[in-house]
Amino acid sequence: MITVNLVCNCTMKPSPKILIGYKNSSILARCHRTITMSMSNNSTTCGLNHDHNTMQFPFHAREFGRVMHGSQQVFGLPSSSFGQSSLIATTTTKRSVSTIAGVDFNFKSRAFSSSMETYENNNGKMVYVKSGLNVNPIMVERVDDGENSVAGEEVSNLEVGEKNEKRENVEEEGEKVEEEETEVEKEAWKLLQEALVTYCDTPVGTVAANDSDDQQPLNYDQVFIRDFIPSALAFLLKGEKEIVKNFLLHTLQLQSWEKTVDCYSPGQGLMPASFKVKTMNLDEGKTEEVLDPDFGESAIGRVAPVDSGLWWIILLRAYGKLTGDYGLQERLDVQTGLKMILNLCLTDGFDMFPSLLVTDGSCMIDRRMGIHGHPLEIQALFYSALRSAREMVAADENSKNLVGEINNRLSALSFHIREYYWLDPQKMNEIYRYKTEEYSLNATNKFNIYPDQIPLWVTDWVPEGGGYLLGNLQPAHMDFRFFMLGNLWSVVSSLGTPRQNNAILNLIEANWDDLVGQMPLKICYPALEHHEWRIITGSDPKNTPWSYHNGGSWPTLLWQFTLACMKMERTELAEKAVALAEKRLPRDSWPEYYDTRTARFIGKQARLYQTWTLAGYLASKMLLKSPEMASLLCWNEDFEILETCVCLLNKSGRVKCSRDAAKSQILV
Ligand code: GLC
Repeated sequence: MITVNLVCNCTMKPSPKILIGYKNSSILARCHRTITMSMSNNSTTCGLNHDHNTMQFPFHAREFGRVMHGSQQVFGLPSSSFGQSSLIATTTTKRSVSTIAGVDFNFKSRAFSSSMETYENNNGKMVYVKSGLNVNPIMVERVDDGENSVAGEEVSNLEVGEKNEKRENVEEEGEKVEEEETEVEKEAWKLLQEALVTYCDTPVGTVAANDSDDQQPLNYDQVFIRDFIPSALAFLLKGEKEIVKNFLLHTLQLQSWEKTVDCYSPGQGLMPASFKVKTMNLDEGKTEEVLDPDFGESAIGRVAPVDSGLWWIILLRAYGKLTGDYGLQERLDVQTGLKMILNLCLTDGFDMFPSLLVTDGSCMIDRRMGIHGHPLEIQALFYSALRSAREMVAADENSKNLVGEINNRLSALSFHIREYYWLDPQKMNEIYRYKTEEYSLNATNKFNIYPDQIPLWVTDWVPEGGGYLLGNLQPAHMDFRFFMLGNLWSVVSSLGTPRQNNAILNLIEANWDDLVGQMPLKICYPALEHHEWRIITGSDPKNTPWSYHNGGSWPTLLWQFTLACMKMERTELAEKAVALAEKRLPRDSWPEYYDTRTARFIGKQARLYQTWTLAGYLASKMLLKSPEMASLLCWNEDFEILETCVCLLNKSGRVKCSRDAAKSQILV
């Protein structure tokens, strides 16, 4: 197998050089790239230079003797873009930093959004104007009167610089007064620092769980991409950006570059689910640190983590937004990695839908739970990643097509989800009266859903004014379960319409006992029981009803809930949930998940000192303290995305725009 050795002789003047070779090691017997770094025993510093001015992508495809396929050739990477690695000084995290003072608020302005303006016309409809032309809105929403009145554009109190009346810690001159950290927060920060994973003395991530009493850590001693997101946000919101930058760059280097079907290796562009820093003993008492990624080939169930790359893109955007350091996303190696993920997602398959087709367990729920096909979580992350990428892909000749593809996909995906995944009392009634076996482009029941599929529990569960996005949609199959992450992330990314976003929070509020109970938040509702549990989970003893992924409660979801609530001006809901979590989490040793209908018990097999539990809590607290930062992590309605759809579908001529045919209440 091929490994890359970045060897640093660190004891004297640094003279880094790249050794590229083949290695036969049982640990490294993988078909993907493993990065190794050698250090002498008494080495002082060792690492990659992450300064984009000096660091070069440390691999040259030709040096590997690898053939660069498709995307890399398309990007036209000049060989000069690869070079030698350089040495960096050890990064130490600033434990004592407790303000966000280090963050530059004067971010480089990024005017990627359209120059669209909206206003209400005489009939009370929202119209939008682009380049001085009146354009008929594709999707117009009106919610008459009421507190949650939204009209076409999401109302948010999170605009940067906007004064938040509730926040007494903002002085007249706009200066932030540092809020005291509570004892619980202090404990969580301490635990987060202890969870740091270093690679050649540089922090590169946080371990999934850090319980010294755990005799069988399985893979919880690894850095998971998805688990690191709340850690990253907590660090960024505290002004500590180096670890996040290191994480983004090191995971980038682990990204899969080639597919070898015969040994279950991942497709080009896939990001690993997790990685581990291993120390290997070499001759003469020297040791070697190895970054060893897992793309799912060691994971339970052998699932490829589709969400990893999507999270990576979302984090890359967040890093730029929160630090103002846009140089990172502009680097050639970062752009290449970004495009590789996008190419993997946008590639054609046999599927007809704009949503991503994936296998079961390809996201946070990483084992069999009947979420194969087009699960909401993946679609919401996909949408957010595409919106992030659109802001970051460097505009040049090579990326023209890619940007076009992103726009088209965004547009089709948003319509598809808003129209076909949405469930509220009115839509339920429509489904209840569906005719089946319809054949034509104008069929109302496009996916041939049999009304008997509507489960009994759902009919009374969705309140008037409430609604949610279904868990999954496939031919003759609607998954009526409520999945928290997908719904929250649809709010955050504006995958849902403004009215849908409000309705989702209405539903959570109305069903607080079911979805929050004694510990926020249910990963999905309700649990699969009896024969459904047997058939759908394959009788999984870890996913018994109301446990783990099957209706368990995951405190890590708190930060996503906080973000969604803040975006929709429902901050009090988030505060209520955070207060609830705060009471129990430290007492229960920060568990991974809770069991039972109301989240009464610590999860049967839950790890303790689970990092994303405490990081999710910290990120929530930090977001609540910094609404202006929270706003940078959300997306508002984008009228350009809506407009693209009309252009596309009408142009094809053959197919009538399904929006015309759509009779849903979300379209006026
Ligand atoms: C479990 C979770 C997964 C998480 C991992 C590490 O497998 O299902 O989402 O990433 O633990 O915490």
